[in-house]
Amino acid sequence: MQDYQNFLAEVLIDEKTLQKRVIELAAEINRDYQGERILLICILRGALPFMVDLMRQLTVPNAIDCMAVSSYGAGARESTGNIRVTMDLQTNIEGKNVLLVEDIVDSGHTISRVLEMLRMRKPKTLKVCVLLDKESRREVAVPIDYKGFAIANKFVFGYGLDLDEYYRNLPFVGVVDLNRYQGVG
Ligand code: PRP
Repeated sequence: MQDYQNFLAEVLIDEKTLQKRVIELAAEINRDYQGERILLICILRGALPFMVDLMRQLTVPNAIDCMAVSSYGAGARESTGNIRVTMDLQTNIEGKNVLLVEDIVDSGHTISRVLEMLRMRKPKTLKVCVLLDKESRREVAVPIDYKGFAIANKFVFGYGLDLDEYYRNLPFVGVVDLNRYQGVG
């Protein structure tokens, strides 16, 4: 495995900045849902570290569930809008305050389709919390209620975001220098 130092172009968001923002987002959520309970839904796998850090800062009573989706059609890396649920929720969300947690919104197709699917299950409320927003890549409009950072269209990894499924554990968000990244060998 290549050490990330060999292909790290820059640390885009360092650990301290990430954690500070997570605390701020949690404070907003705690305030908005005062007196309520919420169900956090993690869209696997990228949102895992973010959701775990976020939930530890919540004082509003919260339960968690996870779902996994994959896009199919043209292009392996690009989201197409054809989203398939590969692992569904275990929880009946009808009548619940649901907060979707995502690591990144790019084209917007994933969140948009997931929201459509979940709306049909009649939650009491349905909101979206996203760590990173690549606004310039948006193809479909998505409502983002809680946003960590707007970022430029750079190839990012770390803090949940993978490079060929690895490096999700890094505590910061970095930018890949693709000329120096050799892939997972
Ligand atoms: C990433 C991310 C979002 C989606 C965003 O997931 O976690 O789910 O892409 O892209 P979009 O806005 O263009 O739809 P990915 O498919 O890389 O899976 P992962 O979370 O398991 O890494």
